Amino acid sequence: MTLLHDTISADGRKEGAGEILSIRGGRPLTGRVEVKGAKNLVTKAMVAALLGESPSILRDVPDISDVAVVRSLLEVHGVRVQEADEPGSLMLDPRDVESAHMEEIDAHAGASRIPILFCGPLLHRLGQAFIPDLGGCRIGDRPIDFHLDALRKFGAVVDKLPTGIRLSAPAGLRGANIHLPYPSVGATEQVLLTAVRANGVTELRNAAIEPEIMDLIAVLQKMGAIISYEPNRVILIEGVDRLEGYDHRAVFDRNEAASWASAALATNGEIFVGGARQPEMLTFLNVLRKVGAGFEIREDGILFRRDGDLRPVTVETDVHPGFMTDWQQPLIVALTQAHGESIVHETVYENRFGFTDALVKMGADIVVHPHGLQGGPRRVPRRNLEQAAVINGPTPLHGADIVVPDLRGGYSHVIAALTAEGESTVRNVGIIRRGYEKFFDKLAAVGADFDVIG
Ligand code: EPZ
Repeated sequence: MTLLHDTISADGRKEGAGEILSIRGGRPLTGRVEVKGAKNLVTKAMVAALLGESPSILRDVPDISDVAVVRSLLEVHGVRVQEADEPGSLMLDPRDVESAHMEEIDAHAGASRIPILFCGPLLHRLGQAFIPDLGGCRIGDRPIDFHLDALRKFGAVVDKLPTGIRLSAPAGLRGANIHLPYPSVGATEQVLLTAVRANGVTELRNAAIEPEIMDLIAVLQKMGAIISYEPNRVILIEGVDRLEGYDHRAVFDRNEAASWASAALATNGEIFVGGARQPEMLTFLNVLRKVGAGFEIREDGILFRRDGDLRPVTVETDVHPGFMTDWQQPLIVALTQAHGESIVHETVYENRFGFTDALVKMGADIVVHPHGLQGGPRRVPRRNLEQAAVINGPTPLHGADIVVPDLRGGYSHVIAALTAEGESTVRNVGIIRRGYEKFFDKLAAVGADFDVIG
């Protein structure tokens, strides 16, 4: 699996470092893309393989940098990782797991948050772990207090070092009662990956229940874990002594699917997203219906296009099954073309509207309220870190010179450049290519007019 190598389309575009695009926008995007396994499941399932006494096979693994980071971290711990029996599949063999040296781990941590999920599996396998300081998109403080509190409840000893955290479990790990202050995806995964081999039963309350979490539970059950999903965000895990490898095809990436759908709306095009499924996108599809999008659910994917003029909406991001925080950035680009005033309340992260600066530079009418909007009926309980964006449209967008800030915001910058009349230069595009497999090929497949110039 050659990582991060976009084969530039056959019409011979220049092959730069993949960091700077020159985009000529203003034309509808029309064509077909395929989405593979979800970035936010695949990386966690790779970590889960550490818990097995035999090799695992993971299928539909996208060629993205988060996968490369986790692959390197597994390899420095002695896990053998290689291509399995079909394209995009990995065989992960944990039978020779060993401690790694801090500097090796540090060198491979990359700009990822996944290393924090190695705690439980390494404590079970080796009795100790060193986790380097985390990377990841700058969309808020992104603390890990829920993770560390949970690990301590399992009996782990946590020492904070200047470069990361060292953990040990002198008396092993025992089942615990954990009530998360917030349905955190990462903290829920932390508990699942630790509880499955702990001594005794773990009760997790206020758990995240995203489709990627449910798919991780499916992976762990295949390995021999006993996990029951109770009503009202309660998950019970009975620790077992031994887990085996799994063979699993990852759930599709609904965040990438939502990004391509928003691109079709913003440019008034028509994009078929192969691999997208309705159940995991119900809330997104409801919002699209309100916005005035036409979509067709097919056996092998979903076709997205406009269905007349786009209409304004009010959206509140929330944990699943609410409207995902990862969906608001691409949707906002489409809302700049809606006829009227839209409002997006961001309730999950405290700084996730930074990308709108570039849209305003391109002509969008967006006002961000850093402390949210007062009053008005709210479905989602207010959190002290809410912000709101008010978008008025339709506004014609014009080309600009923009720098990509993070993965989801960066993709929105590219959609905006493809929507805008004229030429844009989009820099730091590597961030997007690290989260969306074959990004340039997919842009070419939907007819985007661009060159890789750096
Ligand atoms: C995961 O991040 C995803 N990343 C995010 O996607 C996604 O936006 C997020 O879940 C919400 O769905 C991966 O899966 C790799 P959280 P995670 O823990 O686990 C606070 C993308 O672009 N919190 O649910 O880090 C936190 O600050 C990324 O693919 C604590 O306060 O999200 C945030 O406000 C962006 N303490 C809220 O909870 C903690 O210990 C939700 O975070 C942990 C989290």
